[in-house]
Amino acid sequence: MKVMVVGSGGREHALAWKLAQSPKVQVVYVAPGNGGTALDKRLQNVPVTDPQELADFAQREGVYYTVVGPEAPLAAGIVDLFRARGLRIFGPTRAAAQLESSKDFAKAFMHRHGIPTAAYQTFSDAGEAHAYLDAQGAPIVIKADGLAAGKGVVVATTLEEAHAAVDMMLGDNKLGDAGARVVIEEFLEGEEASFIVMVEGGHVLALATSQDHKRLQDGDAGPNTGGMGAYSPAPVVTPALHARVLREIIVPTVRGMEKDGIPFTGFLYAGLMIDKDGNPRTLEFNCRMGDPETQPIMARLKTDLFDVMESAVTGKLDQVVLDWDRRTALGVVIAAHGYPDAPRKGDTITGIPADTEDSVTFHAGTTLADGTLLTTGGRVLCVVGLADTVKAAQRTAYAAVSQIRFDGMQYRTDIGYRAIRH
Ligand code: AMP
Ligand code: GLY
Repeated sequence: MKVMVVGSGGREHALAWKLAQSPKVQVVYVAPGNGGTALDKRLQNVPVTDPQELADFAQREGVYYTVVGPEAPLAAGIVDLFRARGLRIFGPTRAAAQLESSKDFAKAFMHRHGIPTAAYQTFSDAGEAHAYLDAQGAPIVIKADGLAAGKGVVVATTLEEAHAAVDMMLGDNKLGDAGARVVIEEFLEGEEASFIVMVEGGHVLALATSQDHKRLQDGDAGPNTGGMGAYSPAPVVTPALHARVLREIIVPTVRGMEKDGIPFTGFLYAGLMIDKDGNPRTLEFNCRMGDPETQPIMARLKTDLFDVMESAVTGKLDQVVLDWDRRTALGVVIAAHGYPDAPRKGDTITGIPADTEDSVTFHAGTTLADGTLLTTGGRVLCVVGLADTVKAAQRTAYAAVSQIRFDGMQYRTDIGYRAIRH
């Protein structure tokens, strides 16, 4: 069978890598892919990003199904387009993708259906937003309504920062349409976890839990990023909490979307904040898998991913049982010079170790040019180590990281520290 993965990041490399392990898969097309997917003989990059052209390609090549990695094509309606042409695809429709593409939609939805989340209000008028900030005080969180590629959330510890964020989004229009409305919400304290499930036909299949590291520097300092590392499982999500998240957040979300007439299909990712008493609240929804969470999650998946996705696109998700490697997988992201504000491109990457039973390197911002691997900006690689304990997985991952070289590389040295503390 031929299958296709849409996207070019570490998440897509990990999904394609896992799909290619299936004996039923002849080729995995990755559109457009990266340097790592170009190097893997079982994968084939397709230099196409336009949804219509992707549908043409899938039709022409007889692609059995397509899996979408990033949010942008989902929010642009790639699923609606493929379905209208009778092509199998796993992901939410454009309407259902609003759970991620509009923070205001997601917050109103959660309130309507009694799903635990931070208190909030939405503004399009800067004056009203400023007055609300003064009434609420800091710390407080300001979020652009639309997709802003990780730049749309400001966790303000002072009122000055909060006012500046409102000015940036509503006044200076720095984020364009995405920032034309802002959600201002209560600051929540606690520990974050990523809770990702597959949804189809009202059925829910939970994937392994994970935890991301959003800040650039050790000890959660520095600016927010797309994610500097992740590990799976996340010990903060105990079995009791897992059941509670399904009962109080995931199932009401799936049922709520059905009730509202926009049933959700695809990966549903609830970003959780778990307070000190163990109560979960939803920080955000994503309508896709996480990056870098996918990399450690795929490294632990033992079930044939081709079969899992086939069940999902043919209405049999309820028959799937997932089998996970019992070890911890821990992924360290190596980012480019200047990331996240102004990532530099074109640095030569050397020393990536060969994959082994207990370590694998997924590519993101890389390209293969005449046999040389070059950075193309942002998050460049995610190096995953697997071992029986978090500490040992950390050692394995960092041993591989230490062999890799490119100018200006940045990475955190403490990925997994919360799990080690647990
Ligand atoms: P989001 O894109 O909504 O996940 O926000 C990015 C990051 O900002 C989250 O991973 C949290 O670290 C932080 N954040 C978002 N909302 C809140 C909140 N209400 N309270 C505290 N931190 C938040
Ligand atoms: N790792 C966070 C995200 O994928 O949104």
